[in-house]
Amino acid sequence: MKSAKIAGIGYYVPDWVVTNQDLEKVMDTTDDWIVERTGIHERRYGHKHEETTSSMGAKAARIAIERAGIEPKDVDFIIFATLSPDYYFPGCGVLLQRELGITSSEAGALDIRNQCSGFLYALSIADQFVKTGMYRNVLVVGAEMHSMGLDFTTRGRNVTVIFGDGAGAVVVQPADKEGQGILTTHLHSDGTYAEKLAFINPGAHGGYHFQKMGLEEDFGYSDAQYGEMFITQHMVDSGQIFPIMEGQFVFKMAVQKFPEVIMEALQKVGLQPSDINMLIPHQANLRISQMVQRLLRLRDDQVWNNIQRYGNTTAASVPIALAEAVEAGAVKEGDLVCLAAFGSGFTWGSALIRW
Ligand code: ACO
Repeated sequence: MKSAKIAGIGYYVPDWVVTNQDLEKVMDTTDDWIVERTGIHERRYGHKHEETTSSMGAKAARIAIERAGIEPKDVDFIIFATLSPDYYFPGCGVLLQRELGITSSEAGALDIRNQCSGFLYALSIADQFVKTGMYRNVLVVGAEMHSMGLDFTTRGRNVTVIFGDGAGAVVVQPADKEGQGILTTHLHSDGTYAEKLAFINPGAHGGYHFQKMGLEEDFGYSDAQYGEMFITQHMVDSGQIFPIMEGQFVFKMAVQKFPEVIMEALQKVGLQPSDINMLIPHQANLRISQMVQRLLRLRDDQVWNNIQRYGNTTAASVPIALAEAVEAGAVKEGDLVCLAAFGSGFTWGSALIRW
């Protein structure tokens, strides 16, 4: 079976820079706290009402498509990963198709709901489709417009300061030669901890999972037999419509699962951490990346970090960081590139690529 490669890559970040000092003005936080705990100095926010997850995704996609040497109409399958979709449904895949002006091709569009590891899941699916010969040009996009759904009061500060907006995209095509391209991908999940990092409302859960786990809930559902809405006024009034995160728990799991899934990929192809030319970790938190780097005994020049400038852009973080590394000349032909991510679900994954 012929392997698949990343033939073109691009990214887009909005031009609105939001510094830690800007956030100090709207919530009780400090630049020192944010930098010390997360490494983040600033992030980008999309321009409200002018940009969305799918429109930013389309901007990144156009660059990736051009660099792959194809036209938008040549894309024969779209995979879109995000946790901040424009609509509850339909997904961003079809909106991106429309944004790119390629609806007449009627190419399939698939939406991925795997949060921080969404891009890894999407890339792995593209890899399978290309390897089997089903498609030749698969467009994979990771994009987020977090800034439309964060709590900008002190109540939400532990989550809000971490996230930023942006988009990254790749075109996956058949590789030209043996041993080039995506060597292996590994995907995992553990739903035990689904609520440790989650955006629960609005949703159609009706309190089910909380009741089953014996957790206290205060969603404010009515007793109506029919027509219950999946968002209640009480949820809005009490701020239960924002992401929740048990930061320390997530941190501990992340520093365990990142090295584990990277080693799994390396072992599959008989290589070691020292063989990695560039590790692109999901930009969750600089402290997580630094710990993973230490555990794998990697040098600074073997790891790409840009969370300092963009914050955590979830499904977009891996393709943005990879695109930056490629543009900076830090990833060259023949290099071994390792992508890895961990996040909500929990879901996590890795990929090894011979560039
Ligand atoms: N500014 C100032 N103080 C804050 C802020 C803030 N933005 N956020 C929380 N605090 C306060 C808390 O209220 C708490 O105060 P208290 O001691 O008076 O109660 C104190 O700081 C410590 O809070 P913790 O939540 O215990 O802080 P911690 O040291 O764990 O750092 C953080 C929080 C940065 C979220 C950390 O737990 C972390 O990095 N976790 C990993 C989670 C992560 O990276 N998530 C990213 C998304 S998930 C992913 O991509 C994998």
